[in-house]
Amino acid sequence: MAILVTGGLGYIGSHTVVELINNNFEVIIVDDLSNSEKFILHNIEEITGKRPIFYPFDLKRKELLNQVFDAHDIEGCINFAAFKAVGESQEKPIDYYENNLFSLINILQEFKTRKISNFIFSSSCTVYGQADKMPIDENTPLKMPESVYGKTKQMGEEILKDFAQSYKSKICLLRYFNPIGAHPSALLGELPIGVPNNLVPYVMQTAAGIREKLSVWGNDYPTEDGTAIRDYIYVVDLAKAHVAALKSLMNKETEETVIDVYNLGTGKGSSVLEVVQAFESANEVAVPYQICNRREGDITIAYANADKAERELNWKSATSLEESLKTVWEWQKYLESRKN
Ligand code: UFG
Repeated sequence: MAILVTGGLGYIGSHTVVELINNNFEVIIVDDLSNSEKFILHNIEEITGKRPIFYPFDLKRKELLNQVFDAHDIEGCINFAAFKAVGESQEKPIDYYENNLFSLINILQEFKTRKISNFIFSSSCTVYGQADKMPIDENTPLKMPESVYGKTKQMGEEILKDFAQSYKSKICLLRYFNPIGAHPSALLGELPIGVPNNLVPYVMQTAAGIREKLSVWGNDYPTEDGTAIRDYIYVVDLAKAHVAALKSLMNKETEETVIDVYNLGTGKGSSVLEVVQAFESANEVAVPYQICNRREGDITIAYANADKAERELNWKSATSLEESLKTVWEWQKYLESRKN
């Protein structure tokens, strides 16, 4: 019995593969390397002592996916494979819809034909938009996200709910807040292609001198220091939540529809300037920054109420912002050492 992990060489995917292997799951990775690199597979092996089976192809290639399902006894899937750059999704909407939704549908076709259940979907807090009150729990009304990327997440959720209902399947939607950090071994981490869009990779590259200055997008938000607030969750904690969610789904021996939804965050909001200061003090490095205008589409504040995951999955975030940011700096040093 194996678990298919699509996008398993990507940022959250690779950390989750490690946790799955540590929990004795057999892992099959499908990843087209469009936003990941092959050395991550080697590093997973270095960390766990096991090399997962790896298929390098695009999930839109139905015939190849079919062969993977023929070759292995797959009993569940964690689906990370997706394009995820918010800005790029506005420039290439059709590519985003095609990639993120067709790949999902192709896996679900296999699940349907073979009567497989247990599907975990990487969703995002973006499905809540700017919520009216904080913290955000799972009953907070959804708003159609502004970005095409966000829309693919919300549409993916709807597709999965229909799938679960029609075929009496078990699915779980995990709504991540802002994942940050790297593996404590410094062998896995976020690998932004080109100029990073997200805050922490940009801070990391600025501290390393790759970028001259961080642009802080707006200091006129209605928050204490004027910068926007997010809930930064450590990637290894997040990875562990996937294992807990998978075990919980698999333990539900029911033939009935199961649609689980969990917010995964720390429950604590941090402003952009707090992240910068925490990075500086955790790593004793300077992060030069300048205040700029707001970034289009950004919301003011989002942080999670993750009590449901604690109650039902016995999971909660365990790592502080500073500890997470230390791992980011170790990862940057590792990346530099790879260049030499
Ligand atoms: N920020 C900066 N400078 C930067 C990058 C980010 O000031 O160079 C700020 C942003 O304005 C925001 C905060 O840092 O206030 C966090 O920004 P990120 O880009 O790291 O994360 P977002 O909260 O914007 O994005 C996250 C997920 C997306 C998801 C989005 C929905 O990364 O996948 O939430 O709001 F779509």
